[in-house]
Amino acid sequence: MSARNWSPESWRGKPIRQVPDYPDAAALAAVEAKLAQFPPLVFAGEARNLTTALGNVAEGRAFLLQGGDCAESFAEFNANKIRDTFRVILQMAVVLTFGAALPVVKVGRMAGQFAKPRSSDTEKRGDVELPSYRGDIVNGMDFTSEARVPDPNRQLEAYSQAAASLNLVRAFAHGGYADLHRVHGWNLGFVAKSPEAERWQDLAARITECLSFMEACGITPEKTNELRTVDFYTSHEALLLGYEQAMTRVDSTSGEWVDTSAHMLWIGDRTRQLDGAHVEFLRGVLNPIGLKCGPTTDPDELIRLIDVLNPQNRPGRLTLITRMGHEKVHKHLPALLRKVKQEGRAVVWSCDPMHGNTLTSTSGYKTRPFDRILSEVRQFFEVHIAEGTNAGGIHLELTGQDVTECMGGAQAIGDDDLSSRYHTHCDPRLNASQALELAFLIAEMLKVERSNRGLQLHAAQA
Ligand code: PEP
Ligand code: CO
Repeated sequence: MSARNWSPESWRGKPIRQVPDYPDAAALAAVEAKLAQFPPLVFAGEARNLTTALGNVAEGRAFLLQGGDCAESFAEFNANKIRDTFRVILQMAVVLTFGAALPVVKVGRMAGQFAKPRSSDTEKRGDVELPSYRGDIVNGMDFTSEARVPDPNRQLEAYSQAAASLNLVRAFAHGGYADLHRVHGWNLGFVAKSPEAERWQDLAARITECLSFMEACGITPEKTNELRTVDFYTSHEALLLGYEQAMTRVDSTSGEWVDTSAHMLWIGDRTRQLDGAHVEFLRGVLNPIGLKCGPTTDPDELIRLIDVLNPQNRPGRLTLITRMGHEKVHKHLPALLRKVKQEGRAVVWSCDPMHGNTLTSTSGYKTRPFDRILSEVRQFFEVHIAEGTNAGGIHLELTGQDVTECMGGAQAIGDDDLSSRYHTHCDPRLNASQALELAFLIAEMLKVERSNRGLQLHAAQA
């Protein structure tokens, strides 16, 4: 059923934040008209399948793993980078699935994650003040006045990069790369020499043993698709609404609207105003949606937002992505969990331990200490266990590359190391070794949470 009083352009009548100042309105309109004619990137049926999968997460029968770049870039667009991000997400998913015996819903922050909200409209270096960089879909990162002018043609390039990335990801997911028999081969490159390599090889050996056993029992890859392929979905922040509107089409099977730019879309912490344009836009599309919740999210306001975004209270429709910062989880998260539970709203709770834990290191780099990331995840699990709610997922900024952007982890990246391979276009990302390390730690937490829930269930039935 379509949302009431909604159309793909109804957001245009609402107050909006984080909009680029395009100098040429006619050029922008021409690009949007062109995009509206381009083929959809994803189909409504796929978005629905993701909603169903997330419904299982909401009910505690699966775990959500969402991750990828903070900002994808035009300059660093190549097949190896896409493969490496896909691979590390796959590896993490295997660690979590095996460790916690729980299906993992895999969602990439990729194939469309180009627009960035900024804390300030301008950036100052010395005496020079220029408009902020807003992601490659809007303007250029170079600190020159030419680069910072928003250029609508960038949206066409973003579309084509998203299309090519998605094409490759689909090929990896269904064309043999994701076959579980290849688990050993996923550990190539720098991770093979990292502290996590041995743990991974042990796990891979156990999986191979399980597969041999299953094959001996007649469960073969020929008969069982799940051993050969994975479901992999895409997502990004729905920030640049003109682009999102142009990609929004009627689903011919249901008559509903679907934003075909990605399977899942989320609303950022800076654009979640109840009567704002971003909430207005996303309430009307059938895609599963995310909502970032920060320390300033008020429990009563959250219920009003949920009512607007998921009026039918469908499990899987709405994922609340909490990003409090390691010092604020215990202060803010319990009240939100309690309120949502008390009001009977079905949501997925996911933890973004990245965005509340950013700091500037002594050497001047924007970084995130691994310890703080881990601490926020641990507290997320603790609070969910205490409140009797489901710690449903994790939302990470990561890359398969050997970057040095987040400090710490078993590789012990120090402040002095940050300058060596600091490549991000926006926020610091976990590298593949740190991401895998975190996955092993989360698998342990999930096991504890699951056994706890089992005990609660048992007590309730006794
Ligand atoms: C992001 O996910 O990159 C982001 C900007 O997050 P938030 O809206 O939570 O600050
Ligand atoms: Co970010």
